[in-house]
Amino acid sequence: MRVLSGIQPSGILHLGNYFGAMREHLRLADENEAFYFIADFHALTTVQDAATLRGYRFAAAADYLAIGLDPAHTTLFSQVDVPEVTELAWILSTLTPMPMMENAHSYKDKVARGIPASLGLVAYPALMAADILIYDSDAVPVGGDQKQHVEITRDIAGKFNRMYGETLKIPVDLIKQDVAIVPGVDGAKMSKSYGNDIPIFLEGKPLKKRVMSIVTDSTPVEDPKDPDSCNAYAIYRLFASEEERETMRERYRAGGLGYGEVKKEIVARIEEHFADARTRRRALEEHPDEVRDVLAQGAQRARAVAQEVMERVRTACGLGTV
Ligand code: ADP
Ligand code: TRP
Repeated sequence: MRVLSGIQPSGILHLGNYFGAMREHLRLADENEAFYFIADFHALTTVQDAATLRGYRFAAAADYLAIGLDPAHTTLFSQVDVPEVTELAWILSTLTPMPMMENAHSYKDKVARGIPASLGLVAYPALMAADILIYDSDAVPVGGDQKQHVEITRDIAGKFNRMYGETLKIPVDLIKQDVAIVPGVDGAKMSKSYGNDIPIFLEGKPLKKRVMSIVTDSTPVEDPKDPDSCNAYAIYRLFASEEERETMRERYRAGGLGYGEVKKEIVARIEEHFADARTRRRALEEHPDEVRDVLAQGAQRARAVAQEVMERVRTACGLGTV
């Protein structure tokens, strides 16, 4: 099975991205052929400063490698290095109903958050459909917030196949139900764009400061507390075994546990969990050409598949040689 997913370099990757998507990407890559890409064309809909975008793109690739993606086995590449994807996005856009784009949740959320409604922003799902279809992907592992985009992809591919004959492979989504949405320090969904995130590679004082800013209630230390309504527990549990979770839950209920203590434990867990990844991340920072080489090789592999699929698409819709 070929799995494919993308992550936008629209900020520094955080624990929500890691537990909601990246960790699952690594797991799936062990058992399948995996294509993962940095969705830079998508990020351009919200990041419009060249140096910032360049920095986020490099960081996203380095983060994946640091957390353990094996580039010998998994194809990691940048969307921009497979320009055929924009060609397919155009072709798909000619059979994508406008109301389907205007009604997409993610588009409406972004506009509600004040992002200007550009043509690119509204067409985002058609580009995402092209990302998926151009590699004959079987399955698309994403967080729950992306489910609708995969459904739109299936719709558009079905329409193309009905109009032009069986050409595009129709993929399924893979959504891991047991990873609830990871909350940010304020309790809302952790997101790069909400300023409530804990970046995977934040270290030292800034890490402590961010974790200490997790919003908790004002129950006095000695009183019993409810782990299920606590943001600090929701983050702690990501790093804990079933047994450790139970012990922590008992300590909450027993009283005598201060939130500060839970937060200290979170810092320790983050440092321990990502210790090796941090070492690798620093090494990559010092040897940026290693990251660039991985992306170049990944692009070559991905582009070979994309070019084949594009030939099929062009022929099917009358854009092949006359
Ligand atoms: P952000 O909201 O920070 O911009 P993206 O939309 O780029 O994150 O998400 C990239 C991937 O990470 C997606 O598959 C998404 O489902 C997952 N993801 C992002 N935030 C969270 C979260 N707080 N909890 C679980 N998964 C998340
Ligand atoms: N839209 C996805 C997100 O914001 C990123 C993405 C772009 C993607 N193209 C994709 C994910 C193709 C999976 C497949 O998280």
